[in-house]
Amino acid sequence: MDKIVVLDFGSQYSHLICRRIREFSVYAELVPYDISYEELLKYNPKGIIFSGGPSSVYSEDAPFPDSKIFEMNLPLLGICYGHQLIVNKFGGKVKRANKEYGSSLLTIDNDRDLLSGIVGSIRAWMSHGDEAEQIPSGFKVIGHTESVKAAAIASEKKSIFGIQFHPEVVHTEQGIEILKNFVLKVCGAKQDWTMEGFIESTVEKISKIEGNVLCGVSGGIDSTVAALLIHKAIGNRLKCIFVNNGLLRLNEEIEIEEMFKNNFKVNFTAINASQVFLDKLEGVDDPEKKRMIVGEEFIHVFTEFAKINGPFKWLAQGTLYPDVIESGISKGPAAVIKSHHNVGGLPDWLDLEILEPLRDIYKDEVRKIAKLLGVPEKLFMRHPFPGPGLAVRIIGEVTPKKLSIAKVASKIVEEELIEADLYGKVWQAYASVGDDKAVGVVGDERKYGNIVMIRVVDSIDAMTADWTRLPHKLLEKMSNRITNEIDDVTWVTYTISSKPPATIEPQ
Ligand code: XMP
Repeated sequence: MDKIVVLDFGSQYSHLICRRIREFSVYAELVPYDISYEELLKYNPKGIIFSGGPSSVYSEDAPFPDSKIFEMNLPLLGICYGHQLIVNKFGGKVKRANKEYGSSLLTIDNDRDLLSGIVGSIRAWMSHGDEAEQIPSGFKVIGHTESVKAAAIASEKKSIFGIQFHPEVVHTEQGIEILKNFVLKVCGAKQDWTMEGFIESTVEKISKIEGNVLCGVSGGIDSTVAALLIHKAIGNRLKCIFVNNGLLRLNEEIEIEEMFKNNFKVNFTAINASQVFLDKLEGVDDPEKKRMIVGEEFIHVFTEFAKINGPFKWLAQGTLYPDVIESGISKGPAAVIKSHHNVGGLPDWLDLEILEPLRDIYKDEVRKIAKLLGVPEKLFMRHPFPGPGLAVRIIGEVTPKKLSIAKVASKIVEEELIEADLYGKVWQAYASVGDDKAVGVVGDERKYGNIVMIRVVDSIDAMTADWTRLPHKLLEKMSNRITNEIDDVTWVTYTISSKPPATIEPQ
């Protein structure tokens, strides 16, 4: 498989570069910027991209790549900070400029190689504080904007390019064409990254493992797809357990059991441990403590199951690439944001090796794989749901009353979005509840009831998110239904904080 390696200098768009390239069927992987030349060679890349990043090349702690990477004689594309790195490395000058965010008109000065097929001018997305004041000798300007003279440059002899704008964001017109020009024309990479190919090679790899595999399935798309891939490889040497922790969406435990039993031939056991989880959570209101308790209890249930149904050599998980990055497992600049219990954290004495067939995969790719494996559409269109479930959606202590409010109100939010044909267009949607109460009037009576918060967000990969501008009529309908159908609720609010500074889940 041909590979493009993207060095991550910390831009919020670094992942997007890889995803865009994978969308046209070439494998791209994000690696930390300080990867050594020797490590990079192991990838056998067809080309290298330097991402953008928040630093200035002239600041003391500026991140620089291994200098041997510049001598590799491979096609190289620098984006934003990556562009400035190239200018700086080859003897040009970078200066602090007026910060420029948003779209600018890029005039194409040379529509060959990187910019071939892009004629005249395009709108290009800028997000930078520095710019190239003087380009290195041996380079020429191939595109400029009104304020940035060297917005796109190319080496005259080598396949090295630098662009100040971000071709990976949708706001750059023909940005995909520019990435395609680099990857397909300049690097000559083959479009051989397909989900059919991924399934085939993954199944082949897994079929070589020895011993039995234990896989916890949550009913979510990631663990389901992981289980189906492993099952395809080793059949009944895989045992799946589904733990009802009492923190699931309304009636989800019934739907999941039915889905597995009716659609797949995998070895499946459902365990109802809801009372144990809820007992352990009693009186706990700290978000990270709740997460820890749920994580520990999962492991406890798994261990008990393994003692009786083992021995197992492997524990399978549906960990995705962004989970790996966000959990700080990779050395990249992404800091730990919240602890995800589904990465790491297993006791040593359990002595299980971890099997994560989707570790290099993005969410949209999992959906494609799910479709190919015959997963019912209803499941792969379902929004992601956090491992600790309603424990992180309910603010404060998890009580039976708050659980019931969150479950029913969330169901109403989902139903109304489906009815308005918006469910598939938003990233996540739910209703949360805390301990705050507000006065309402029912008939002629004053009533002191709970406040429900509706949260609906748009996102591409959960790293950032924006609140969805839902039509007022729809919000009104959700609100009316929630206060009419749930006795304890008097007020309904809509959450209008984006990530950052908020997160998607309230806890
Ligand atoms: P936040 O709230 O951090 O969520 O913006 C980002 C995405 O991750 C999900 N999420 C979790 N998933 N274990 C999980 O498996 C967790 O502890 C956890 N916390 C948040 C959240 O639903 C969103 O999609």
